[in-house]
Amino acid sequence: MQEEIQKVKDEATASLREIRTQEDAENFRLRFLSRKGSVAQLFDRLKDIPKEDKPALGKALNELRSFVESEFDAARGSIGSTASRETAGIDLSIPGRKRYLGRKHPLTQTAEEIKRIFTGIGFGIADGPEIEDDYHNFEALNFPPDHPARDMQDTFFVKNPAQKDANQNGKYVLRTHTSGVQIRVMENNKPPLRVIMPGRVYRNEAISARSYCLFHQVEGLYVDKNVSLAELKGTISYFAKEFFNAEAKLRFRPSYFPFTEPSAEVDVNCFICGGKGCKICKYSGWLEIMGCGMVDPNVFKFVKYDDHEVSGFAFGMGIERLALLRYGIDDIRLFFENDIRFLNQF
Ligand code: DAH
Repeated sequence: MQEEIQKVKDEATASLREIRTQEDAENFRLRFLSRKGSVAQLFDRLKDIPKEDKPALGKALNELRSFVESEFDAARGSIGSTASRETAGIDLSIPGRKRYLGRKHPLTQTAEEIKRIFTGIGFGIADGPEIEDDYHNFEALNFPPDHPARDMQDTFFVKNPAQKDANQNGKYVLRTHTSGVQIRVMENNKPPLRVIMPGRVYRNEAISARSYCLFHQVEGLYVDKNVSLAELKGTISYFAKEFFNAEAKLRFRPSYFPFTEPSAEVDVNCFICGGKGCKICKYSGWLEIMGCGMVDPNVFKFVKYDDHEVSGFAFGMGIERLALLRYGIDDIRLFFENDIRFLNQF
């Protein structure tokens, strides 16, 4: 009898290890703990046992029953828990998958920074169409038809089968710069004006590390009574110090744009080499960041502003160029390839 008690204990211990599901648990209960189960059967046999052996066997049987019951409770309690799930085919030792947070494209971040700086000093934001007519992209900006300055920008022309409006010269282009939005803003608003106009522009250029067929610009326009060149310089210096760093030094180089007179290109001292000369600044110590100037009176005539009454300044900068400089990137194409290994760095 003692041997049989031991045998049931061993069997029960082995079966307990196999319990995975509620069904396994029920089978175990039926086999060992029900009224017809192995433990009850051993108890039934107690009545046939000689009197003197009864106390010892009774004790052994009670121990068996409480052992099986408590182990069974424990096994049933852990169904669906870590240990049993692991053995059920899920390997919990595999490291979790990392979730990467999405982030804004570096060009979006740069554009937002530019907008933040200018809106902080009272500029509003405007935009215009990317398919632009010749009048707004060129003519009203003082590029007369056949003017050689049109060659400064390699233009994508767009065919317009309708060509209804003779005033548009029948010509549409993918805008080559955001300067045309100046015209639209002035056509629709009276001075004084303080606006920046960010947007995408297109140029029919060979694609290389330095140029791409599309890029982004931010145009700026300030028109009021008695606006001076000093205010233009002050505004741009403020921008450069905010965008690059407070030590930024600027250089205004005389230049030419049909829509501004006088015109200048603006350089910032190379913060990469500190002005000593490096690859990025092409050993000049200076980095070009934008074009600017005082709005040409002819432009005011096109939008029917009184050029004796008002004056103004305008500027235009390339967002890719500013982002390249800011982050020390040497290939503009990276902005358009959207390689996650590049984008993850911003
Ligand atoms: N539109 C010029 C370009 O695409 C940039 C520019 C230069 C804009 C001078 C301006 C300006 O407003 O005054 O290169």
